Amino acid sequence: MVNREVHKRSIQAEEPEQEKGEMEENKCPSKTEGKPIRCKAAVCRKAGEALVIEEIEVAPPKAWEVRIKVLCTSLCHTDVTFWKLDAGPASAFPRIFGHEAVGVVESVGDYVEEVKQGDRVLPVFLPDCGECRDCKSTKSNCCTTFPFTHYNGMPRDGSSRFKDSNGLDLSHFLFVSSFAEYTVLDVANVVKISSDIPVDKACLLSCGVTTGVGAAWKVAEVEQGSTVAIFGLGAVGLAVAEGARLRGASKIIGVDLNPDKYGIGKQFGVTDFINPTYCSEKSVVEVLIHCSSPACFDQFDRDFVWYKLLVNDQVIREMTDGGADYCFECIGLASLMQDAINSSRPGWGKTVILGVEMHGSPLSVSSSEILRGKTVTGSYFGGVKAKSDIPFFVKKYLHNELNLEGFVTHEISFQDINKAFDLLLQGKSIRCIIWMDK
Ligand SMILES: NC(=O)c1ccc[n+]([C@@H]2O[C@H](COP(=O)([O-])OP(=O)(O)OC[C@H]3O[C@@H](n4cnc5c(N)ncnc54)[C@H](O)[C@@H]3O)[C@@H](O)[C@H]2O)c1
Ligand SMILES: [Zn+2]
Ligand SMILES: [Zn+2]
Repeated sequence: MVNREVHKRSIQAEEPEQEKGEMEENKCPSKTEGKPIRCKAAVCRKAGEALVIEEIEVAPPKAWEVRIKVLCTSLCHTDVTFWKLDAGPASAFPRIFGHEAVGVVESVGDYVEEVKQGDRVLPVFLPDCGECRDCKSTKSNCCTTFPFTHYNGMPRDGSSRFKDSNGLDLSHFLFVSSFAEYTVLDVANVVKISSDIPVDKACLLSCGVTTGVGAAWKVAEVEQGSTVAIFGLGAVGLAVAEGARLRGASKIIGVDLNPDKYGIGKQFGVTDFINPTYCSEKSVVEVLIHCSSPACFDQFDRDFVWYKLLVNDQVIREMTDGGADYCFECIGLASLMQDAINSSRPGWGKTVILGVEMHGSPLSVSSSEILRGKTVTGSYFGGVKAKSDIPFFVKKYLHNELNLEGFVTHEISFQDINKAFDLLLQGKSIRCIIWMDK
């Protein structure tokens, strides 16, 4: 397998730099195997504080573990939510954040047969042990062998593989901790992927984009001709739009406070846009349920932007003929989860919660909404079973059936990692690729 890969690449005229590096890793046995590696990591010492690039020590992988060299990583909003969290069992500092990444296997521990040194892999925050009742069922992707009980360490024993320069443990994050040049993962959190997919596109599939596409595809099972409302057009929401577009949705309504998301949403199949800031006379829910007249589109962009009509125009007809067939919450606010449920169609409307509530607030749902036949569900990782579904998405991309262009809006080097936080918090980036070696 390794030889075939090398041969296949050697007949290509020009090798990208990344591929050359990986070929070297494939050929040479790791000099670091079995030993701790000293390398750089972006450490967060206190909630909400800028990350600091520090030298750390990464232990060799134990049994069923894999140590990888991170090629690139990116910032997902879930990192930001936990970065701000200053109390509770899931808050642990100093910590190495990051859970969306792609890497190359540096070495493996005992009993690991699924991947070997030099393999291109995606780390995933949701374990897929393949053996528990949930992993074997098509109905679940929440592994019961490794539930989220060890928030701050490795999934099997909760201990850390990272030490700072004073020899003190650093906390892991979501079983991945990719804001480091090397990291250790349980084999249940590693997916081998083809090296034909460009590294930055692969990185997107490690969390946000897979979550969105998977939610439209696997959780909602959006149908041809249906109406879809997406609250929040970040990477997750835009990926929902991409998934809904692929499933043939006829109307995809994006709801976002940031007007810059109009243009980017269009690229992913968003057909209509609502900016709640301008919904002064109607709630977003009312707009979604009742408004649909082409006569009342804003003249600046007749096909797309809805918000001005709400201020200036009382001509309102049905936008979704009674409520959207599918609603997705991709922000992480309980109030918007409620809006999403209220915007869904009685009878069969389905709401999928993807946002991680940023204040830990509970969601309250009126039982009358449920009695009217609405369904509310949620999912980690878009219902995706990492080991089988991610290679499927990679193939879809390689066959030009899945659009991953447009998600990467910025690229920076590892030492500038704090810029990725600024860009996401300011609403300027969708995904910012953080290159470890550039
Ligand atoms: N379920 C999962 O497995 C999973 C996976 C990845 C991310 N997430 C969660 O999904 C959510 C989105 O992640 P992301 O990386 O796409 O985030 P993001 O920050 O890129 O996108 C969030 C979007 O919501 C918009 N927004 C914020 N507040 C709003 C409001 N009040 N009204 C309307 N729009 C508003 C922002 O302008 C932005 O466009 C987060 O809560 C994240 O934690 C969940
Ligand atoms: Zn994520
Ligand atoms: Zn399992």
